[in-house]
Amino acid sequence: MPLLKVEDLNVRYGSIQGTAGLSFEVNAGEIVALIGSNGAGKSSTLKAILGMASYVSGSIVYNGQSLKNMKPHEVVGLGVGYSPEGRRVFPALSVQDNLRVGGYTRSTQEFEQRSEQIYGYFPRLKERYKQDAGSLSGGEQQMLAIGRALMSFPKLFLLDEPSLGLAPIIVERIGEILREVQQTEKISVILSEQNAIWALGLASRAVILELGRVVAKGEAAELRESSKIRNAYLGLD
Ligand SMILES: Nc1ncnc2c1ncn2[C@@H]1O[C@H](COP(=O)(O)OP(=O)(O)O)[C@@H](O)[C@H]1O
Ligand SMILES: [Mg+2]
Repeated sequence: MPLLKVEDLNVRYGSIQGTAGLSFEVNAGEIVALIGSNGAGKSSTLKAILGMASYVSGSIVYNGQSLKNMKPHEVVGLGVGYSPEGRRVFPALSVQDNLRVGGYTRSTQEFEQRSEQIYGYFPRLKERYKQDAGSLSGGEQQMLAIGRALMSFPKLFLLDEPSLGLAPIIVERIGEILREVQQTEKISVILSEQNAIWALGLASRAVILELGRVVAKGEAAELRESSKIRNAYLGLD
């Protein structure tokens, strides 16, 4: 049984369609890339899973349980972590306090233990733990947004466009850390991305979206090699 099964998902914003009959699955312990250009429906999909976007039809089943009509905090409580597009760290809070927000349900001791693990993945954050998040570089803010989401020990991590606006070398570093986290914690990740080549290099499987629809899905390595896919959907040659 897959950890997450999304079937025929139709997210609507009034008359605007966010997704149109989208279906895919995520197995335990894998990274699935959700690839598409601006407006393809990536964020709508992640928000629907979290209970932040309503869908007129379709189903989302996580760990055998329907997420329909659940509130975001309930979905997070079931083990779903979320790092939103644009990072959304709290700029006036320190790095440490941003992590605290992500682990607010934990005891002090649990917080200390988990934040040390997070700092182990992101040594740069440890060096800057007292600094206001607003003073960090874009890459460091992205690391903090990921770390904050990991504070709640997710089993399924929804990561929305982490590479946006970052230099290639920073994107590579974030990919390495993401892979390390995923292997160490044996979590599943949905990686929403416009940077198709990078995401396909990290993921085991991928779903390519256009205008809210799935136009291709399969093994990431195969999609990456397919000249048809590269030309038609990824803007590569
Ligand atoms: N809050 C919203 N209100 C109205 N339309 C929206 C809203 N959010 C997204 N959309 C629309 O839904 C479609 C999918 O958007 P989105 O899921 O944000 O795509 P992506 O994350 O792939 O860029 C687009 O046409 C977008 O304009
Ligand atoms: Mg988006």
